[in-house]
Amino acid sequence: MAEHEEDPGFSPGSGRGDAGEDIPLLSAPDSDLAVHLVPLRRRHLRSVLRIEAQVYPRPWSLPLFMSELNLRTSRAYIAARVEGVIVGYAGIMLAGDEAHVTTIAVNPAWQRHKIGSRLMARLVRSAMAQGARHLTLEVRMSNLGAQGMYRRFGFEPAGVRKNYYAETNEDALIMWAYDLHSPAATARLAAIEAGIPGATIDGASPPDPGCVEP
Ligand SMILES: CC(C)(COP(=O)(O)OP(=O)(O)OC[C@H]1O[C@@H](n2cnc3c(N)ncnc32)[C@H](O)[C@@H]1OP(=O)(O)O)[C@@H](O)C(=O)NCCC(=O)NCCS
Repeated sequence: MAEHEEDPGFSPGSGRGDAGEDIPLLSAPDSDLAVHLVPLRRRHLRSVLRIEAQVYPRPWSLPLFMSELNLRTSRAYIAARVEGVIVGYAGIMLAGDEAHVTTIAVNPAWQRHKIGSRLMARLVRSAMAQGARHLTLEVRMSNLGAQGMYRRFGFEPAGVRKNYYAETNEDALIMWAYDLHSPAATARLAAIEAGIPGATIDGASPPDPGCVEP
């Protein structure tokens, strides 16, 4: 993802979840999991930055997240919450009939429990609802896990950006999912959603105090 090139020196520090709780332990089977998908808000960012620092060599900074959240007409950011604690987040940038996945991440302790798939499914639906026909992203060549998830969603390799991740001298694979509204694509998305165990609950997130809603 492009924007993770920013602010290499930023350290989010340590802290607890946005709800003031530690990350809940995965004690129940995935079939009992209830994941809430809510609009990402400023108050979630402390939790988000903790995850950022764990999963990206060059995490986004707080100001960068804030500026992204302020771009209300061209961005859509969501957070995944379990028992009130942020376990993942994702976002897209909208540009005409194309949308660009800017970030997607899941707390390492929660990976491989379909949190990423829930977030991606929601991003795709959000892009479609905003008029996008195609969806693109960049991913590290070495990130085969993420690429596996993207392929499930119909993303196909379309090119390489040489040395895109300069800090690790790594190329980016550009992937596209075309024709999101086609019968094949919508059937694939519905099948992915139907195959996710547990509950996915779409929820509104009240605005942050002082935020101007569109
Ligand atoms: C990529 C990421 C968001 C996936 O989130 P997740 O919640 O673990 O993904 P899911 O559980 O929904 O996985 C869906 C499928 O993707 C593939 N996949 C995901 N992670 C994988 C891994 N580490 N290794 C192999 N396959 C993987 C699998 O096919 C998986 O299905 P399965 O578990 O039934 O085999 C998560 O690994 C992450 O946050 N990574 C660090 C940040 C990152 O790399 N973001 C992407 C930048 S482009």
